[in-house]
Order: sequence, then structure tokens, then C-alpha cells
Amino acid sequence: MKNLLITGGCGFIGANFIRYLLEESDFTGRIINLDKLTYAGNPENITDILSRFSDRYVFEKKDICDFKGMKRIFDEYQIDTICHFAAESHVDRSIVKPDDFIQTNIIGTFNLLELARANQNRLILFHHISTDEVFGSLGMEGFFTEETPYKPNSPYSASKAASDHLVRAYNKTYGLPIAISNCSNNYGPYQFPEKMIPLMILNALERKTLPVYGYGQNVRDWLYVKDHCKAVWKIMKHGKTGEAYNIGGNNEIKNIDLVEQICDLLDEKVEKGHDRPRKELITFVKDRPGHDLRYAIDFSKTKKELGWSPEESFESGIKKTIEWYISNREWVNHVKSGEYRSWIKKQYE
Ligand code: NAD
Ligand code: DAU
Repeated sequence: MKNLLITGGCGFIGANFIRYLLEESDFTGRIINLDKLTYAGNPENITDILSRFSDRYVFEKKDICDFKGMKRIFDEYQIDTICHFAAESHVDRSIVKPDDFIQTNIIGTFNLLELARANQNRLILFHHISTDEVFGSLGMEGFFTEETPYKPNSPYSASKAASDHLVRAYNKTYGLPIAISNCSNNYGPYQFPEKMIPLMILNALERKTLPVYGYGQNVRDWLYVKDHCKAVWKIMKHGKTGEAYNIGGNNEIKNIDLVEQICDLLDEKVEKGHDRPRKELITFVKDRPGHDLRYAIDFSKTKKELGWSPEESFESGIKKTIEWYISNREWVNHVKSGEYRSWIKKQYE
């Protein structure tokens, strides 16, 4: 892998993946980070990488839906491997306005597949980053395996399911070397604070309301983001082409229990002895339409074939994450005030 195209590398997981590859892994090639810089794409997630790895890292602001622009990238950088993170990723936004989800997640992925096919002679791998949400919802029992039928319930998960099907079809029809990974909920540094964990940490720090959907009985399987990055790299190096791999945290937690845990940890850490425990900030609000009850991942295939298991426990991962949001106030302030957007405007528009 000499010229690795990473799409969505200024988002939460993509930025953590680039850091992992350059700082800790045995990857020796060059990374071309391509990102449209939507509201969720923040170059501040990766600013230091540009100066520290200038010989092995390039950034291109581009939309994966722009076929011509993408063709130039494939030609200029002689792309031989693709790791495709770029997506509209927030379920609530997909419910309010699905349009961008259809464009980016389906049409954008289709464009990348067509370009990969056009350059198939030098293509090593097209790795597609996907989600456990494509499988739909579980009751209180059972796990998603790689064989679970797709049954997506939100416009977001339906668009990711569509892209998974296209990726798989390009392998079956054209022999494109692909891999798909379906992962559970990630948390950790650089996550945009519209998602549950950073939203609750930042609101609780400021003693703002903590909006829990329904009665907080929904269950998610939480995975520390670096563990996801390690799994993806293992699949890219040693996975079988044409296959899908599940990645999960072994960490099922009910939303209400998770929010209460964050409150307790913050009470311990910040303003210990305040007379109002943060749990009192929890407010039950109108439920998300079509809210999936429970996700739980069986990742035994990934464990058995690739020797991957999550390393971070939830207790240590959530503490690290809280610590990160407390110590990175500048990042938080820029994101919350929208200041990172004006920086993007100055640099790129
Ligand atoms: P994110 O929203 O934080 O980042 C998405 C990135 O993609 C942003 O940098 C954005 O600017 C970029 N992007 C969006 N549209 C684009 C376009 N048209 N062209 C180029 N770039 C574009 O998302 P994330 O949480 O980092 O998720 C990354 C991937 O992982 C997604 O494919 C998502 O479906 C998948 N995933 C996420 C989770 C999770 O818990 N966050 C779990 C499993 C899978
Ligand atoms: O499972 C993987 C998926 O995890 C990824 O594919 C998605 O990109 C990612 O956004 C995430 O989806 P969720 O919908 O599970 O994550 P979110 O952080 O939005 O919500 C987690 C749970 O918390 C969910 O049950 C809804 C609930 N929630 C969320 C928010 C933002 C609340 O109760 N209150 C909130 O304010």
C-alpha cells in the first residue's frame, strides 16, 4: 500500500485512524486525506499531522460526489488503496433531512467504486467503513453476526446498507478487491458533540439539561475509537477480500445508565461537593422516530481470523474521553462557537 486514499479523514473516526496509522502502526506509505469539510469535518482534528508528517501526508478538500474532481485525485496520486470513511453519519439529521445522506453515502460511494474499478489494475483494496445499524434492531436477546440479514430502520442506516450492497456487488460482479467492516458505536477524542457521549459530557460540564430520548432504555455497544482503528488496520492487512467483518466493544449499556455514569464521574472530578448532583439535569424528551432498541455485536469472526479484540475497558475509555474533553477546551470552544468554520473559509473558500 503506497498511496492510501482516506476519505472523511477530518471527521471523528477518520482523524483517529490517520493518527493511528502514522503514529503507531507499521504502515509505511503515503496518506491522501480527502474530505469535503462538512459541518462534521474539522481540520483542527488533524492540524499537527500536516507539519509532523509532511512527507507522508497530503490533504485535499473535495466532495466524493464530484466525479471529475475525484478522477484527478486518483490519477495524480496513483491511488492503490482506499479506506472509505466519508459519510453523513448522524441518525437524527437523517430523519430531519435525508438528502445529503443519499448523495454522499450512496452516490459518493458509487463514484469511488467506479473510480476504483477504472484503476483496478493497481488496486490493492477498497475498504468500506460501515455500521452495525444496517442490521436493524435487536430485542433484549441475541447478537448481530456477519450473516444477519440487513433491515435498516433510519434513512442513515438505509443509505449505509445501500452502499454496503454496492461495495459487495462490485466484488461479485467485477472482482474488485473489497472488505467491509460493520462497527458498533464509537466514542473517544475528536467526536463532534452532536453525538450522545460528547453531548452529555459537555452539557453536564456546563450544568445544562441532559436530553435522554424516550426513557433511556435503548442499548448500544460502545467501542473506544482507537480499538476500531486497530481493527480496521488488521482487516486491511490480513482480512480476506470480498468479506465483511463485525467490530464491537462487548460493552452493552442502556442509555440512561451511561448518562448517569457520566454524571457520577463528573461529580467526582469537577466541583466535587456541589450540592446538586448532575443526575438531576437528566430530562426525558420525545423519542427518536424509529429508534432502534438494541445493538449488540458478535465479533467472533474478526477475533478468530485476525486476532482482534477490544483492548480498552469502558471504565478506562470513558475516563480518558472525559479527560480529553476537559483538557481540550480550545477545540471544544471552536467547535461549539463554529469558529473552525471561519478558519476553513479563510483557508479553502
Ligand atoms: P463524522 O460525521 O465525524 O465524519 C464524517 C467525515 O466525512 C467528515 O469529515 C465530513 O466532512 C466528511 N464528508 C461528509 N460528506 C462528504 C463528502 N460528500 N465528500 C467528502 N467528505 C465528506 O463521522 P464518523 O463518526 O467519523 O464516521 C465515519 C464513518 O464510520 C462513517 O462512514 C460512519 O457511517 C461509520 N461509522 C461510525 C460509527 C460511529 O459510532 N461514529 C460507528 C460505525 C460506523
Ligand atoms: O451503531 C453505530 C452508529 O452509532 C453509527 O453508525 C452512527 O454513525 C453513530 O452516529 C451512532 O449512531 P447512534 O444513533 O446510536 O448514536 P447517537 O450518539 O446519536 O445516539 C446514541 C444513543 O443515545 C441512541 O440510542 C440515541 C440516544 N440519544 C442520543 C442523543 C444525541 C439520546 O438519548 N439523547 C441525545 O441527545
